[in-house]
Amino acid sequence: MMASTATHIPFHKPFCASTCQRHLGAALQSGKWAGNGPYAQKCRTRLSELFHGASVFLTPSCTAALEMAACVLEIKPGDEVIVPSFTFVSSASGFALFGARPIFVDVDARSLNLDPERLEAAITPRTRAIVPVHYAGVACDMDSIMEIAARHRLEVVEDNAHGLFGTLRGRSLGSFGSLSTLSFHETKNVSCGEGGALILNRPDLVERAEIAQEKGTNRSRFLMGLIDKYTWVAPGSSYLLSDLNAALLWANLEEMDRVQAHRLALWNRYQEGLADWCRANGVDQPHIPAGAEHPAHLYYLLLPDLESRQQLMLHLRSQNVQAAYHYQPLHLSPMGLAYGGAEADCPVSVQAANRLIRLPLYADLKFEEQDRILDMIQSWSQA
Ligand SMILES: Cc1ncc(COP(=O)(O)O)c(C=O)c1O
Repeated sequence: MMASTATHIPFHKPFCASTCQRHLGAALQSGKWAGNGPYAQKCRTRLSELFHGASVFLTPSCTAALEMAACVLEIKPGDEVIVPSFTFVSSASGFALFGARPIFVDVDARSLNLDPERLEAAITPRTRAIVPVHYAGVACDMDSIMEIAARHRLEVVEDNAHGLFGTLRGRSLGSFGSLSTLSFHETKNVSCGEGGALILNRPDLVERAEIAQEKGTNRSRFLMGLIDKYTWVAPGSSYLLSDLNAALLWANLEEMDRVQAHRLALWNRYQEGLADWCRANGVDQPHIPAGAEHPAHLYYLLLPDLESRQQLMLHLRSQNVQAAYHYQPLHLSPMGLAYGGAEADCPVSVQAANRLIRLPLYADLKFEEQDRILDMIQSWSQA
């Protein structure tokens, strides 16, 4: 195969707002580099508006936010937490770290989100929480999940790593469960390199979260002047985001409207541009359920099988375009198997892992570059 001389199109490039340097410079100058500093407060206020007034805690990652959620809910050995098998490790590992056993449930074939039809069969007297993941920022069937959770008195922790700006009937993803988490990893729509947030929709959990975030101490109450010294009072860790990262996050949040408009345009161009080709080649496109608005976090296709997915990836790579597959089924990972994953029946997760390809989608991707990708995919079918 001849090496292509076409310009390289990476799978991803982090977005860097025009004001990043200015805000980072100001944060450096301020001398306040630790967590919950001035930039963190600005981000928390902005995010709280997006989450209908919820309390927001900035964390070093979404993984840390999920651990903090487990800590706040006082998850302990013997508890079970239900997670989809088709997700990132952290949806399960954050709870496993506190002793819970993850119970893997399959995803729905159209949405790749936790299948509510399979959820109830996984509930036992030991179940404490359900962790729905809004894959690609497309809403889970939250009506069914919340109804099942309420009937069994279970907590819902939405892993909303992909879903900032996603909504369901006008309500932000991440505002349905008692808690939810966000990721600001460099691959996300809004990023600060590494970062995340825990969103609390239940005010009665706020004090526990303040303690969990501050190494298990009541330092927050001390900073508010409510006590004259602080001490170790409960389980916790260091779940704080440095204000240097928060400055980058703030800069990127300020430009989010422009970024979102372009990402959505790119997403729609993929969806419309590939519709005929997908129909002709047995390829499934993302399905957006009625009432859901998604944030164009990622664009994927489900090829007929593993072989065709690999072939398309190679075809793109041969022309200098980088595509990516995504999650491997968690129930079959070494840790998943150690938790009894072999008993889980998750065929859709296995298929999604084999069939799924993600195409380049980022704020600086130009329409001309995307046209090249569209042409390449369409020409592949004729090969
Ligand atoms: C669904 C999901 N949850 C959690 C995470 C972990 O995010 P972070 O890298 O911010 O810890 C990811 C990572 O992309 C993810 O896809």
